[in-house]
Order: sequence, then C-alpha cells, then structure tokens
Amino acid sequence: MKNETGIRQIKIFDTTLRDGEQAPGASLDVEQKIKLAHRLAALGVDTIEPGFPISSPGDFQAVQRISREIQGVEICGFARAVKADIDSAIRATQDAERRRLHMFLSSSNIHLDFQLKKTRAEVVNLAREMVSYAKRFVDEVEFSPMDATRTGDEFLFEVLEAVIEEGATILNIPDTVGFALPEEYGAMFTRVMKGVRGSDRVEFSAHCHNDLGMAVANSLAAIRAGVTHVEVTVNGVGERAGNCSLEELAMALATRGDHFGVTTNIRPEEIYATSQMVSRMMGAPIAFNKPIVGRNAFQHEAGIHQDGLLKNRNTYEIMDPERLGIPRSMIVLGKHSGRHALRHRVAEFGVELNNEQLEQLYTAFKEKADRQKTVHDHELMQLAGQAVDRALEPYTLEEVQIVTGNGAHRVASCKIRNNEAGSTTVYTGGGEGPVEAAVDAIRRAIPEPIEFADLELYSVSAGETSAGEATVTVRLGEALHRGTATNRDILVAAAEAYMAACNRAVREARSAGSQTADKQTVS
Ligand code: KIV
Ligand code: ZN
Repeated sequence: MKNETGIRQIKIFDTTLRDGEQAPGASLDVEQKIKLAHRLAALGVDTIEPGFPISSPGDFQAVQRISREIQGVEICGFARAVKADIDSAIRATQDAERRRLHMFLSSSNIHLDFQLKKTRAEVVNLAREMVSYAKRFVDEVEFSPMDATRTGDEFLFEVLEAVIEEGATILNIPDTVGFALPEEYGAMFTRVMKGVRGSDRVEFSAHCHNDLGMAVANSLAAIRAGVTHVEVTVNGVGERAGNCSLEELAMALATRGDHFGVTTNIRPEEIYATSQMVSRMMGAPIAFNKPIVGRNAFQHEAGIHQDGLLKNRNTYEIMDPERLGIPRSMIVLGKHSGRHALRHRVAEFGVELNNEQLEQLYTAFKEKADRQKTVHDHELMQLAGQAVDRALEPYTLEEVQIVTGNGAHRVASCKIRNNEAGSTTVYTGGGEGPVEAAVDAIRRAIPEPIEFADLELYSVSAGETSAGEATVTVRLGEALHRGTATNRDILVAAAEAYMAACNRAVREARSAGSQTADKQTVS
C-alpha cells in the first residue's frame, strides 16, 4: 500500500482499549474509553479496537458508542471463533463509518492440547466455518492465529490458506507470548508471504508482546519484511510486559525514515498528551526512562551534555521534544551542572547575571546540589535572587500549615509574601483534601484566574525518612505552566510546587502584558 507520494504507508491499529486494557488493574469505563478514542483519532491512528463486545455490557456499549461517534477511523470488533462473539462484534460496530471484524483462534500445539482441547483438523474446520460466517456480515475480516510464533510453518500455513479461501482479508500473525526474535519474526513473514497460497490477495499485520523487551524491534522487522498493518498500544500497555508501544514504533519510523522508507498517519505533536491521558486513566505510571514519553527521555544531567546541548541540541538529542508536544525543560540542574547551564536557565526567567553574580550563584547552587538530587527552578530563582539582591519570583511561600486527618474537612494556612508589593499576608483555605485546602489558600493571594490542572506525586527516596516530589501543572488562559518541589512532607511539596507553577504563570502573563503595553505606548 503506497500513499500518493509513492511511499509505503504503514497502518497503525491501536488496541490500547482492548489488549492494552487487559493489563492488570488497567480497566476503563465506557466514558473513559470514549474520551480516549477521541484522543486516538486526534493522534492519527488508522484503526481503533475499542474492546471485546461479548465480554461485558460495558465493552459492548463502548464499542457501539465509539462506532457511532468517531468518524474517519476504522473501528474493529474483537471476537473468538464463536458465533455469539461474532454476532456481538457485528452488532456493536453496525453504525461505524468503516469497520472490521477481528477474529482469533489458537494455532500452537500447547494451546490446542491444553486450552482448546481440539485437534488441528478441528481448528482448521472451525476457522473456515467462522470466517465464512463473519463474511456474511462484514467485508473486512482480520484473522489471528493465536500463539502463531510457537506454531511451526506447516500448520500455520494450513490455517492461513484455509482462512484466505474463506475470505479473510487481513492476516495478523501475533507473537502472543513475546517469544520471537526480530530476525525470526521478520523471516516468518517473508516465508508466509512467499509460501502461503493466496497471500497476494491479503494484507499482513504484526502484533507483538514485550516479554523479552522486543515488541518494537519485532514489529519493525515485520515492517521490513513487508507487513502494512501494525498493532500497538499507547505507552506499550498490555498483558504482562505489554504490547508494541505506539510512540516508540512511530518515532522509530519517523526518526529512521532513511532506513525504513515508510510513513504513518501519526501526528507526533499529539503523542505526549495521549500518553498522559492513557497513563492517568489506566492508573499506570510511565517509567522515568521510557523512550519518547518518560520524564527523563529528554532530560540531561551531565554537565558535558548540558554544555553541548546549549551549543547545539543535536549534540545529544535525536528527536525534538517540542515536536512531540513535550513541555519539559531539557536540562535538569543537579550537582553535575556547570556555570553555562546556570546562566542559561536563569536567563530563561529574564535574569541576566554578571560574572560576579554568576560565581556567587554557582557556589550556593553547588552546596545545595550536593545535599539534594535536583535543584528545582524556584530554588534556583531564590538563590539567583540572593545573588542579585532582590526577590525574583512574584510571590514567596514563607510558611505552610495544613490540618489534616480523617474528619470531613481539611484546612490550610499559608503565609505568602507579595514581592512586588513588599507585603506579607496569611491566607486560609479549606477543602475535602489537604492539597485542595493549600491550593485554596494560595489562590487567594493571586489575582490572575489560575486553574489547577494536574498533580503528580513520586517518592524519591526509600525508608521512613523518604522525601516526596510533587509536580503541579496550572493553566492560565491557554498556557500550561509547571512547578516541581521536593520535601520530606509531601503536602508541603505539593503546596510549594503549586506556588512555583503559579509564579511561572504570573511572571509570563505579566511580562507578556507589559510587552503589549510597551508596544501600544510606542505606537
Ligand atoms: O496477543 C494475541 O495473540 C492477541 C490476539 C488475539 C491478536 O492479542
Ligand atoms: Zn495481544
């Protein structure tokens, strides 16, 4: 399948809402699936498999509503080789603009002997019968011989030839248990495409699990061998170690286009927001070092790397995080950071340091960085403020007191200095939760209509004395702003992070406002 520019087009089949949802503890309700399906459509996937309609009324409803609501994306109903499953999947996808039925039936001896308790002949007959049944209702029928990579060519070819004869249009050959190696998986597709009668009449699809960490490499090998469909999940979520990760596959194809010479419809700028939404809705945190979407994926601590990046980003980065919608700063300030990185970071906040001030900041920074892993922006700004002898943040959170417990209400009192006005005030706030109470108190100090958007909490050390790190995202108008803080008291960390995010929002809004005012005065 080539697109209008003559480049082979790889169709991205997203199964986050079906195979991905099979990850332990990841289940989603109907409304969540609908929201995610809209997000996946915005990301540019070609097919969405929203669930297993026969498995529960909720899944049936989710597939049905997504079929009705989402335009421009193919919707796939999942079914065993069982009439009731097929009927349910056909009914659920009835109103889709474009639809597909995805039927699976095991083919490996171990599955036949212990799970299906069927002979090979019985499996082939059942596959024929059910594909032919499904074809009465739907044109596009995908067939998956489950555990294909442990099946062996002889029987695999027999099953595939049988379903092609009955009208299957897409053959998906899954590495169900994540057992294959890239060269084996690619070679299997090459043999199948050459040796299976009728293979020129169908399209091929890869579906890989990550038990040996090779799901992406295996899917890429299948693409090299000629498949045109790849089944993936956002963040690689799924059974056990998960599935082939959508974002890793898409960015490998985009970044190494020189090697693969294929294209997808994925919009890189939508990757990060989609990844965050999936992680939040499934309650599945993303590993810090996860490629593309992990929080460290574009962060650099080593002084030599920071210096190189500031001279030219390509020195240590092969992708541009901003192209992926990642709102993170590339440099993490810690004990390996040098003067160049410090000067650059404070300049981002509009503060120019002379050499003497930089030296003073550098000494204070190194002392702090030796005591803690990372120096956050608001801490750096406090140190820079000492170097230039004035407060650089609009507000300083001087004290926080939060009363919490298992009663109905929490209260907080925050002493906040307004650095521009030169005054200090104690604000009180309340809420059902302690963070809500602190946010309510801090919000009273700031006239701008700042909305609380998100809170991430991590434990950053072990044992009773462990510290918590909080990152708060706030929204002011269209813009999002982040603040991070670490404290032995996780509630104080959340309050400080909120204050840091608000300071960032206020500073940027006020400086944008004053630039507009300046322009208006000049004109
Ligand atoms: O992993 C697998 O084999 C599957 C299919 C049934 C395609 O999820
Ligand atoms: Zn699977």
